[in-house]
Amino acid sequence: MSDRAQGQEVFAGIARRYDTLNRVLSFGQEQAWRRRGARWLPPGKLLDLGSGTGAALPVFGDRVVVALDPVPEMLALNQASVKVVALGEALPFGDESFDSVFSAYVFRNLTSISETLREIHRVLRPGGKAAVIGLGRPKGSFAAAVHRAGTAVVLPLAGAVVGARREYAYLHHSLDKLPPPEELFAGGPMEVEKIWRMGPLGFVYGALLGK
Ligand SMILES: C[S@@+](CC[C@H](N)C(=O)[O-])C[C@H]1O[C@@H](n2cnc3c(N)ncnc32)[C@H](O)[C@@H]1O
Repeated sequence: MSDRAQGQEVFAGIARRYDTLNRVLSFGQEQAWRRRGARWLPPGKLLDLGSGTGAALPVFGDRVVVALDPVPEMLALNQASVKVVALGEALPFGDESFDSVFSAYVFRNLTSISETLREIHRVLRPGGKAAVIGLGRPKGSFAAAVHRAGTAVVLPLAGAVVGARREYAYLHHSLDKLPPPEELFAGGPMEVEKIWRMGPLGFVYGALLGK
């Protein structure tokens, strides 16, 4: 394996199949979940952090979008007019240069959440907002155990069917990687304005963070 983090290797391998896989795994809901986060963001300049293939672009309306991702294979499929190959942990932008930051389905793949949150805080103008959409486990240990048992069976099967076993195994394990969003964002530096749950058993979360 190269010196890329595991998440980046996985996305380089599945770039062309990514949108279809995502649609199937989310029962066609992944865009509605993105939209519920983007609606809270102010107009102006928006950073789509971990933009990937740019699947979220339609939910940004007339905001001016900068799409950032470390994986060129993903960005090559992205229709944004400004695309930047970089990591969330080291944003190549000046202080207070964005009105909003959006990041969907990225946080499980980051090498450092605290560094990325610090960078988001730095590049946002005062009063700017960030919306994070992420996958994890449902709230409550029983629902989480049921969901874990379900994804342990369903995801390897789905992986075998579409010839992407490794990627689906990665997804199953990455769902347990992070604490729930209430804990994840509690340490700042962004202020938690609201957290909500979506999807079956609430395994998808949204978080609105303010500077
Ligand atoms: C599941 S995809 C989500 C893509 C897009 N946000 C969406 O909603 O479809 C995760 C993306 O995070 C990117 N990524 C991985 N590590 C990253 C990092 N350290 N900083 C920023 N993005 C990262 C991957 O390359 C991939 O494009």
